[in-house]
Amino acid sequence: MDYVLISQFFIILLSLTISVESSTVARYGHSSALINDRLYIIGGFSISTQPKGSNDVFYLDLTKPFNTQNPASALVDITQSSGMPLLIAWASSTVLGSDGILLFGGYTWSLSTGNSDTSDNALYLYNTTTDQLTIPTVTGVSPIRRREMKIVCDNNENIYIYSGVSLGEIPQWFTDMNILDANSGFKWVLVPMSNAPTYPRADYTATMLPNGVIVYIGGRTHMVTDGLVIETELNINQLILYDTKDATWYPMQAIGASIDNRNSHSAVLTLDGKIIIYGGAKGPNLTTVTPSLAILDTSTTVYTWSIPQISSQFYPPPLMLHTADLFGNYMIIAYGNVTNGATSPVEVNQNIYMLDTGTFSWITSYTPNISSVNTNHSTSVGLLIGIICAVIVFLVIISIIGWLLYKKYKKRQLIRNSVIATPGSEIDRNYMVESDERDERDEFSNINNNNNRISNLTNLTNHTSVSDTSNREDHRNSSTTDITIISHSRPSSTYKDTYGTSYHPSYSNGPPSYYTPHGGFTPKSPPYSTRN
Ligand SMILES: *[C@@H]1O[C@H](CO)[C@@H](O)[C@H](O)[C@H]1NC(C)=O
Ligand SMILES: *[C@@H]1O[C@H](CO)[C@@H](O)[C@H](O)[C@H]1NC(C)=O
Ligand SMILES: *[C@@H]1O[C@H](CO)[C@@H](O)[C@H](O)[C@H]1NC(C)=O
Ligand SMILES: *[C@@H]1O[C@H](CO)[C@@H](O)[C@H](O)[C@H]1NC(C)=O
Repeated sequence: MDYVLISQFFIILLSLTISVESSTVARYGHSSALINDRLYIIGGFSISTQPKGSNDVFYLDLTKPFNTQNPASALVDITQSSGMPLLIAWASSTVLGSDGILLFGGYTWSLSTGNSDTSDNALYLYNTTTDQLTIPTVTGVSPIRRREMKIVCDNNENIYIYSGVSLGEIPQWFTDMNILDANSGFKWVLVPMSNAPTYPRADYTATMLPNGVIVYIGGRTHMVTDGLVIETELNINQLILYDTKDATWYPMQAIGASIDNRNSHSAVLTLDGKIIIYGGAKGPNLTTVTPSLAILDTSTTVYTWSIPQISSQFYPPPLMLHTADLFGNYMIIAYGNVTNGATSPVEVNQNIYMLDTGTFSWITSYTPNISSVNTNHSTSVGLLIGIICAVIVFLVIISIIGWLLYKKYKKRQLIRNSVIATPGSEIDRNYMVESDERDERDEFSNINNNNNRISNLTNLTNHTSVSDTSNREDHRNSSTTDITIISHSRPSSTYKDTYGTSYHPSYSNGPPSYYTPHGGFTPKSPPYSTRN
């Protein structure tokens, strides 16, 4: 009895203090978004769900210290509580408002049937306050569902979606720019642009500068020359800029260090206007690019490439289809396919890497700094409140038990007084046993009720800490300027699943071969004029 009670109490206490920890599952083609001190990871091809996407939702808790080689202690799996209703991979994402993650494009599958979703909708909103995924009600004409593009958001919650490739047997390459006005009821607008590139682009990165100019870097294009389809990387020096202020495109020829053309890389923007790109792949075999890490300085009139000197012994593997987000000074690289020098990637990465962009060193052990300690402080206040509540509830239980024992004692007194039984007689013993059992059942149901109340309390406490907005504004500001583009998706001509069979999410017989080797493409006469 006492033992049960004590263990109940400790279970309650534990449930108040411990959140769910998850181990890292290797994946690629996932989506990521940084909200406050949390790096959210949604879906992707995890090694356990290939060849379909996954419905995983978890976050890296950046208020906790962890070792990047084993971040499990800082990973919180919320897949169950989010009730994520679908499997998703290759979606591009952006932060919306203070707590939303907007996902667009890629592939989705029904969680229950596993069937690929062929509907027109490709837009989802994940709310990190409610932990629910919803389909926003939109107005205007939605762009055709697509993959291999990046979405970026400006300060007015306009989301820009450029080019990309359609799903389906014969992929269509787009050259359009669509804007989703998320501030006034999710309104789609197809933008008439001036000076627009005439060729399509996929697997690029898109970075929104504070002045409203989007910088598109690298990726691949598709062209038909003499009846021959050629798909090749674009020249990485041939940047295209889209000025959201006047809906006009401008080309820019970047100068500086020599950087391999690449696709499926990632990019983050630092506060001092440097775009740091990582990884990517080249050629039909999607091989490693050099250097993995490069900087494009956008604070100069002509953007300039440089290769940073890395001041750490440790270096992550070359990756593609990973994600990159900037948290304070740290660029956080997560998961992705490991590229090599000869073949298509054969390995999926299960680690998270952090680059200190102040010192250009890859750190292996992360310690939250002062601003995060504040959040820790509010967490420990929450914990304190939790413990106090637990103690109060414990005292209540004790009182109830005391009261019940008292009642039982009184009852026995009553029995003794009314039934004049000889101690040890049949009547006495039976009655006593029954009444004991009943009282114990009552006690249990009381404890269970209290238990329920406590777990409700736990939920409440959790939600309060989730919606704790003390640091939200600061981080929001930094994440608006540090708009982070997630690298996604690119189908290779032969998609191999873990069993080595040819596979493509939308085709049953494998995709058409659509990657033709080529040295990198610079449009001969730019289809637009140079910016003055
Ligand atoms: C998320 O849900 C909360 C609570 O319902 C709401 O206040 C907030 O506006 C939602 N966020 C977004 C981005 O829709
Ligand atoms: C790609 O890899 C295959 C073997 O997997 C090899 O035969 C082929 O030569 C490679 N192509 C290039 C361009 O390296
Ligand atoms: C830590 O704090 C300093 C200054 O308060 C800030 O510049 C830096 O970006 C922070 N780092 C992280 C990882 O938040
Ligand atoms: C990523 O790696 C996995 C595991 O080897 C492989 O099945 C998959 O085809 C790779 N994806 C790409 C795009 O290369």
